[in-house]
Amino acid sequence: MKHTLLILGGAGYIGSHTVAELVGRGCEVVVADNLEKGHRAAVHPKAAFREGDIRDATFMDALFSEFGVDCVIHFAAYSLVGESVSDPLKYYDNNVGGTRAALSAMAKHGVRNIVFSSSAAVYGEPEEVPIPEGARLHPQSPYGASKLTMEQMMAWCARAYGMRYVSLRYFNACGALPGGLIGEDHAPETHLIPNALYAALGKSPALEIYGDDYPTKDGTCVRDYIHVCDLARAHALAAQYLMDGGQSDIFNLGSGEGFTVKEILLAAQEVAGRPIPHKFVGRRAGDPAKLVASNGKADRALGFSPGITSIRDMIASAWAWHAGHPAGFAGYMPDW
Ligand code: UFG
Repeated sequence: MKHTLLILGGAGYIGSHTVAELVGRGCEVVVADNLEKGHRAAVHPKAAFREGDIRDATFMDALFSEFGVDCVIHFAAYSLVGESVSDPLKYYDNNVGGTRAALSAMAKHGVRNIVFSSSAAVYGEPEEVPIPEGARLHPQSPYGASKLTMEQMMAWCARAYGMRYVSLRYFNACGALPGGLIGEDHAPETHLIPNALYAALGKSPALEIYGDDYPTKDGTCVRDYIHVCDLARAHALAAQYLMDGGQSDIFNLGSGEGFTVKEILLAAQEVAGRPIPHKFVGRRAGDPAKLVASNGKADRALGFSPGITSIRDMIASAWAWHAGHPAGFAGYMPDW
């Protein structure tokens, strides 16, 4: 039987790649997105698209009435750590409020399965690296706190309403669909790999490197990068796990390997085939020195391990997208 999946925030970066993965697997896919951050053009044409805000109960009622949804995948949230520190209520309103509204509509319409987009930001500064799922949860920003609250809401709703959830804590998502058909297009862009490639393309004067005095091998922060198509596949596997009767659980999604900012810069220069102008500036508030996932649990329970393990390949797929579409989705319609 074909399953129907409702993707909240399916026009965003990770959401749109997951939609492409699910369409490729032959699922019925429905996307709901308010297009505040997402791009209509990023949504695979075989997915049904409804524009609206998940906090709008009338919109959500109409969605669940129109489609017989087997599983929800929830990406609809703000994700800028710095912005969340200066405007925390914006994050509580959209992230926590949006999740409350989505869970409420699910409960009302008897939809029991939800895969949730969480973050390594729930851990804060880790006590041990690699970080296991059972590590201390000590978010350092309203963004991370909102993701932790969203996880807790799901756990309580699972108990009360018979729902089941999988929470996926991503480390650093990167890359783009092979061939560069769709990719990452944030405004403002805050992430390392796109910012390095923007500097390579001359879209910005230089990559700013935030701090070279961290207690790491070269003084710059260490992160665990995972390809967005691997994340997309993990969501498909998590949805299938729930629809097969799997119990609620939480999984890290990372490669298990760490790279410093300087190592990413070097790899990006090799991929772009040119020097990337850069300068060292002060630390960015709230950046932990080192975040690397312990990633065995997702493998054991979901059969998921990353397929793209070379950082050069990850960056090369991002480069194909950015170099091919320097204006992102502006004026661009992918030819699927
Ligand atoms: N960095 C730079 N220059 C930039 C951008 C980033 O030096 O222009 C550095 C950061 O200081 C950090 C590393 O590159 O050390 C990675 O930064 P990103 O912004 O790419 O990613 P983060 O690790 O800050 O954030 C990611 C997710 C968040 C999530 C967080 C968990 O994007 O959603 O991991 O800690 F909250």
